[in-house]
Amino acid sequence: MERDVLSVDDLSSEEVTRLLDLSQKVKAHPGDYGEALKGRSVALIFEKPSTRTRVSFELAVAATGGHAVTLSASELQLGRGETIEDTGRVLSRYVDAIVLRTFEQERLEVLARAASVPVINALSDFEHPCQCLADLLTVREVKGELAGRTLTFLGDGNNVAHSLLLGGAKTGMNIRVATPRGFEPIPLIVQRATEIASETRGSVLTTHDAREACAGADVLYTDVWASMGQESEASERALVFQAYQLDAEKVSLGRPDVTVLHCLPAHRGHEITAEVIDGPHSAVWDQAENRLHTQKALLLWLLGAA
Ligand code: CP
Repeated sequence: MERDVLSVDDLSSEEVTRLLDLSQKVKAHPGDYGEALKGRSVALIFEKPSTRTRVSFELAVAATGGHAVTLSASELQLGRGETIEDTGRVLSRYVDAIVLRTFEQERLEVLARAASVPVINALSDFEHPCQCLADLLTVREVKGELAGRTLTFLGDGNNVAHSLLLGGAKTGMNIRVATPRGFEPIPLIVQRATEIASETRGSVLTTHDAREACAGADVLYTDVWASMGQESEASERALVFQAYQLDAEKVSLGRPDVTVLHCLPAHRGHEITAEVIDGPHSAVWDQAENRLHTQKALLLWLLGAA
């Protein structure tokens, strides 16, 4: 039975750790995996724009000897009414895995049920598990270990926050999410992350107090205030989210060696200031690079090639 990764919660704590171990090996010795996916193909479907995810997945497949086929929904018969189920059934006859960036999480679930090959969530409105794996790898590289580290996410309780809550809990981290009222992560995710954290000695805190959330943090993380599809709300959100901007004052509240992360694309002067994202605490470019290594590891693991 093939495995799908639609949510971070599709991976056990042990699997997250093993994937991070494999990511570190793949990053250190890329040549060892140059033919690992020889003869294998991966379909990458994008129903939303992408820079990092598209390029890093395409190169992850190529660098491991496989072949990637990238498709936008408008180029597919999907755009003319073919169902996602039929698309999944047909692609399963051609490729060894399907990567989908889309809107509703349910669309990924429907695809995964119809497809007979692994399906990977390359971002939905609900979660961004591939981003989370790269985030965890980056924190591990900078801090040495994840368990016991405190990561504070500031801003919108969005897909990235959801995956961080789950991934942080699975690795024994203390995850704090500070949002304006009305923009909290969904209670189901907070509840599940809290349940996981109780088994890993991690912790979960949601708050509206950004300064309290930043106090003593090892990692400060933010994301855009208006996600893809919410562009019309951008100016209204900018007012509501101002107190959650990741600026020098918030950085000063963290530990002296605090690491700053942002999944990108960034909007300097909005969710993060230029001096912070381009400053000495920032690890965002390593974080972006790590998308490549963690996605290689994910594909190798899902396709039984490592
Ligand atoms: N962080 C991220 O997923 O970037 P893209 O939207 O460019 O893929």
